[in-house]
Amino acid sequence: MKITILHGQKHHGSTWNTTLLLLDHLISADDECNEFFVNDIPNCIGCFTCILEDEEKCPHRSLTKPIIQAIEQSDILIVATPNYCMGMTGQLKTFFDHMAYRWMSHRPLGEMRSKLAIAVSTTAGVGAGVATKQIAKQLFWWGIPKVYRLNSAVAASKWDDVKPKIKLSIEQKAMKIAKKVKKNRRKAGRGLYQKFIFKMMGIIQKKGLGTPKDASYWKEQGWI
Ligand SMILES: Cc1cc2nc3c(=O)[nH]c(=O)nc-3n(C[C@H](O)[C@H](O)[C@H](O)COP(=O)(O)O)c2cc1C
Repeated sequence: MKITILHGQKHHGSTWNTTLLLLDHLISADDECNEFFVNDIPNCIGCFTCILEDEEKCPHRSLTKPIIQAIEQSDILIVATPNYCMGMTGQLKTFFDHMAYRWMSHRPLGEMRSKLAIAVSTTAGVGAGVATKQIAKQLFWWGIPKVYRLNSAVAASKWDDVKPKIKLSIEQKAMKIAKKVKKNRRKAGRGLYQKFIFKMMGIIQKKGLGTPKDASYWKEQGWI
């Protein structure tokens, strides 16, 4: 099983440690893991080159390509972020912006339909659920059918200050999610709503309401 882990922060805090707890229960010796920190990617400059012309022409492609290739070759994707002001980190959102061309409304990768993902977030008080929901929404639009969400309120600014009782409850949640992912990973497939959205996007491409680049991609894939 191939797993890609994206960290929306560089430091080894509560979110990173929560992700490690998840990995402890999810991966085994034969699994291949690729890990990335998305911090050094510059902001999307809004040039539209990826959408209208070619993603390879993105000025930040050398930084994003290795990450995108790893994601596209993975069976499971883990995306982790601390809650910053009721949402994912800006750094992570910046990475997601570079994936706009892979939305179902543009040029989605067909294989996304057989992947599973886990969104991880920690917060001091409230907001981890908001952050994982934001991640799940992005991944839905890439075409990933199922995103499990591991949210934890840690009541601390540092992992060392998180109470053992809270750490135990995080580990139990991580264990349950890891078990579900291992059980369901071969059964992943689009649900009704995602199928509907995909179909609608196909109609848009067929009617020529999208970009010429996107329409030719949909034709090449044999989807329209
Ligand atoms: C810039 C910033 C914004 C934050 N915003 C919130 C917030 O809106 N609500 C909250 O409960 N905690 C907030 N926190 C606290 C962190 O979400 C919390 O401590 C989290 O566990 C940190 O994870 P980390 O150790 O992986 O960085 C914020 C922290 C930072 C640095």
